[in-house]
Formats: sequence, C-alpha cells, structure tokens
Amino acid sequence: MTQEKRPITLITGASAGIGAALAHEFAANGHDVVLIARRELALAALADAIAAKGAPRPTVLRADLAHADAAQAIAEALDRRGLEPDVVVNNAGFGLLGAADKLDRAEQLAMIDVNVRALTDLSLAFIESLKRRRGGILNVASIAAFMPGPGMAVYYASKAYVLSFSEALHRELKPKGVRVTVLCPGPVPTEFQARAGMTGEAFPRLLTRSAEQVARDAYRGLKQGRRVVVPGLATSAVATVIRFVPRSILLSLIDRQQRGRR
Ligand SMILES: NC(=O)c1ccc[n+]([C@@H]2O[C@H](COP(=O)([O-])OP(=O)(O)OC[C@H]3O[C@@H](n4cnc5c(N)ncnc54)[C@H](OP(=O)(O)O)[C@@H]3O)[C@@H](O)[C@H]2O)c1
Repeated sequence: MTQEKRPITLITGASAGIGAALAHEFAANGHDVVLIARRELALAALADAIAAKGAPRPTVLRADLAHADAAQAIAEALDRRGLEPDVVVNNAGFGLLGAADKLDRAEQLAMIDVNVRALTDLSLAFIESLKRRRGGILNVASIAAFMPGPGMAVYYASKAYVLSFSEALHRELKPKGVRVTVLCPGPVPTEFQARAGMTGEAFPRLLTRSAEQVARDAYRGLKQGRRVVVPGLATSAVATVIRFVPRSILLSLIDRQQRGRR
C-alpha cells in the first residue's frame, strides 16, 4: 500500500521580503510550509521564527532556481520526505536596473530563468496533486506587468509574462478545482531595490506597501479565488489607468522614472 503524502504549501524566495511575509501568513493560517531559496541560514532562521509562534516547523530546501533542473530537484526532495504541494507560491524573483544593452547579458538571462522559467516549471510540476487536493497557485508578478519598462526592460517583460501566463492558467484550471491568483504589488521596501541596483529616488509613499500588508492581501485573494490581486487602492487605480494611457507616453514616463532611480 502506498503511503498518503502530507500536503504542504511550497514558497519560493522565502529567505527575504515578500516571500518571508507570505511564509508567516500561510503558516498563521494553518498551512504546513516548505521554504525555498539559496540562503539556507536565512530560511532556517525563518523556520525557527514560524515554529516559535506555535506553527509546525517549516521544511527548508536550498535551491537555485536559475538552474534548469531546480523544479525536478524540488519535486524529488519533497517526494523523499513524503510531502506534496496543495499550494504553490512562486514568489522568487529579482530585477536589474539599467539599459538592456549595458546590463550583463548572462544576468538578464538568469532573471528570465528565475522569474519566468522556474515559475512556469513549478506551476506545472505539481498540477496533479493540486487538482487532487483542490489547491492553488499564487504567482508573484508586479505592477510592472501592466506596462513596458525602459530602464528595466527584461524585468518588466518577465512580469508581463507572469501576468499573462497566470491569468490563462486561472481560466484553464478553474473548472478542475485549482485556484490561480497572480499578485501584482507596487513598491515594497525589501532587498529587491538594492539587488536591482536602485540608489536614486524613493517610491511615492501612497503607492508603497509593506511586505506584510501585501502578503495578507495575497492570501485573502487566493482564498477568494481572485484572478488578479493588486494590493492597495492607489496601486490598483494606477493599474487601471495605465490601460488608457498611450504607449508612447507611458514609455517616456517610465524611462524618466527609471533614470531617476539610478
Ligand atoms: N519589492 C518590490 O518592490 C516588488 C514589487 C513588485 C513585485 N515584486 C516581486 O516580489 C517577489 C519577491 O521580491 P522581494 O521584494 O521580496 O525581493 P527580495 O527581498 O530581494 O527577495 C527575493 C527572494 O527571491 C529569492 N531568489 C532570488 N534569486 C533566486 C534564485 N536564483 N534561486 C532561488 N531563490 C532566489 C531570494 O532568495 P536567495 O537570495 O536566498 O536565493 C529571496 O528570498 C519578486 O518576484 C519581485 O519581482 C517586488
């Protein structure tokens, strides 16, 4: 007889920022979480903090999602532990500020590997268990998904992919009992800005949300089966207005904004 596997919520990019806040949020709501990132020590510290609040201690898995075999390795590691996801949270990602012809090409391709390839692979790798358990997928895009981004061209394009892919998946998997929600936050102060090389202007306060606020909105949105979650009224208004702004104007506005951040 095969042993019944234990359902878990898989969270990528849990060692910092929004991912760590999502891990706290899911754990506080009774989910057994598995934390994934490259920095194992930070994951272990987060697992301790979650356990200290009385939740079961999360499992920690070290993985570099820029590697093409990462999803396969994660699936095997879960299998060995008798675990299978009922929720997959694809949060890991990073951006790079600068003109595409000036930034390092290999780093920009690694961004596609993490933000796009690994997210797609992990969204599809566990579909059978997600269907069986009537679970869900939470994919983290960005407000950047709604527009082209000169000065961060590959990052914005990668998030446009995440939005498009996740909305389509929402439609395909809804009749099969799997919820798919795509999260599109505005600016959130995390390690993201330093990693991207942002040293200039700060973001408007009105649009800025904390990682904890974003994680709460994301969790509620997933539970409600929402297709897209844009945390915060002001950010949500921006996402709506953008649809009506001519692309040429949008391009020069964003170009100017990103130059101010360098
Ligand atoms: N902060 C914002 O303003 C903002 C706004 C909109 C959307 N987002 C999106 O939100 C998500 C989380 O970003 P954040 O703001 O929380 O950034 P963060 O604080 O820099 O955290 C990024 C997380 O991704 C992980 N990660 C990066 N590269 C990885 C790799 N190769 N393999 C495995 N894990 C990797 C990092 O872990 P390790 O370094 O330990 O591997 C870290 O846990 C990203 O997808 C980002 O695009 C952020």
